[in-house]
Amino acid sequence: MQLRLVLIQPRVVARLRAMTLSRSTSTQAAGTGAPSAAAATPQPLPSRRPRSGIVLGIESSCDDTGVAVVTTSGRVLGESLATQAEIHAAWGGVVPKLAQEAHEAAIDGCVEAALSAAGVTADQLDAVAVTIGPGLGLCLRVGVLKARQLAAAHQLPVVPVHHMEAHALVARLGATRFALDAAAQTAAGAATATHQAAAGASGSTTSASAAGAASLGPAAPAADAAAEPPPAALVEFPFLCLLISGGHNQLLLVEGVGQYTQLGTTLDDALGEAYDKVARLLGLDLMPSGGAALEAFALEGNPRGMPFSVPMQRHANCDFSYAGLKTAVRLAIEEHAPEPSEANRQVRADIAASFQRVAVKHLEERCRRAVQWAQETHPEVRHLVVAGGVASNLFIRSQLTAVAQRAGLELVCPPARLCTDNGVMVAWAGVERLQLGLEEAPPAAVELGEGEWLDLRPRWPLTDRKDPRCFTATKSARKKRIFTGLTQLMEQQQEGNKAVVAAAAGAAQARQGVVI
Ligand code: KG4
Ligand code: ZN
Repeated sequence: MQLRLVLIQPRVVARLRAMTLSRSTSTQAAGTGAPSAAAATPQPLPSRRPRSGIVLGIESSCDDTGVAVVTTSGRVLGESLATQAEIHAAWGGVVPKLAQEAHEAAIDGCVEAALSAAGVTADQLDAVAVTIGPGLGLCLRVGVLKARQLAAAHQLPVVPVHHMEAHALVARLGATRFALDAAAQTAAGAATATHQAAAGASGSTTSASAAGAASLGPAAPAADAAAEPPPAALVEFPFLCLLISGGHNQLLLVEGVGQYTQLGTTLDDALGEAYDKVARLLGLDLMPSGGAALEAFALEGNPRGMPFSVPMQRHANCDFSYAGLKTAVRLAIEEHAPEPSEANRQVRADIAASFQRVAVKHLEERCRRAVQWAQETHPEVRHLVVAGGVASNLFIRSQLTAVAQRAGLELVCPPARLCTDNGVMVAWAGVERLQLGLEEAPPAAVELGEGEWLDLRPRWPLTDRKDPRCFTATKSARKKRIFTGLTQLMEQQQEGNKAVVAAAAGAAQARQGVVI
């Protein structure tokens, strides 16, 4: 879903930058900025007790309350999800206050359901992981407060998680490989028992399941978690990752936990946002989401029925743009089907199918180029991971399978229920960070200080490290020269500034009688 809150909190940015750059075990150099001295050598917390290898994750950034209990070997012991789709469908988008209330109504029940499905108590956990952004502040706060409450009560470390990192890393969780096998997906869905939760009064739907889905294998008793065999096939670093959700559209080279290089991003809308908007304009029932509704409706239409053009044809880079296509679709709807009715159902379906074909063609083109870029600099890349809510779209999966296969890569998509927001991905990102010693000490107080913890920027980027080809690929030879010239000038200026700062520091120290 689309997020509109803009509130930048520099303290949080600095904190997560340190967090993402502080990995000490990596073979690659981390991010753009210099890590702080403390962050460069993260000090693992003294262990309080023998590790159980079990992490609980909480997700509440938008309209899903997700909680899951996952082991370090990638086994999902229990999970619980309260979705609010019905609440927001009537409004045509997520209403933050209603979402907050629904999270508050569901969170305790979800935590209890996930723990009881897993057969563990909070005392047996190793840590609590929680999404701290990007997302809706009112909603994030609910999950964060619950995580801090659990952590304080049971003296557990907390692992703050970036929502998009969780989407990306869940592909590394054990047997989550996507096969173009609808039967497996159906089986996974059937393994989840759905029931109306205690939160039913708020209108949200909760499901809880032990051991997650069939594809994740039977649950091991918690005590045996440490003895579990490692997952069958792990997506190793580095891998190429396409993140497509309601708020993000990014192509990343993932070299390690917290080590992301952006190859491309959207210049305007995210693909999920475009799906949601077009679904609304077409008058579809937005259940379970605008994107899913549009995917289903598009099956009725002719994908070449409308002459929409593929965006950014003259830009030889990996960026995306969906605003122009969205406008073209809006104009087509205004012309051919201003009011949705049964009489214009076919033309609306043609518009839906044509939008999807062109939107996905744009994805394919950018992914093809990103694969080339990745193979130029990282020939060891073996996987193209596609994650985020939109990655549950079967048409997109099949089109990108072809792109990956042609380049000799394997396409990896988490199962649909792990593409849309869920607790498993947060718990797993928590596991990955915990293994690198990137947890935080149990909080002394549950309440949050001003500007603490939450990052509310809707497109809070996972990284500010960009591949240099992002800058040069779009530019004409002349612009490239200007760009290179400007870069050199900036570098000279930075060197000059450093010299000035060093001279000033030297002078100050000399004044104080300090010998350097
Ligand atoms: O990752 P997600 O659950 O939440 C965000 O982080 O934004 O993604 C939600 C987005 C929504 O825009 C929704 O319409 C879209 O994912 N989506 C889909 C499909 N299922 C969900 N888009 C296209 N096809 C689908 N089958
Ligand atoms: Zn998401």
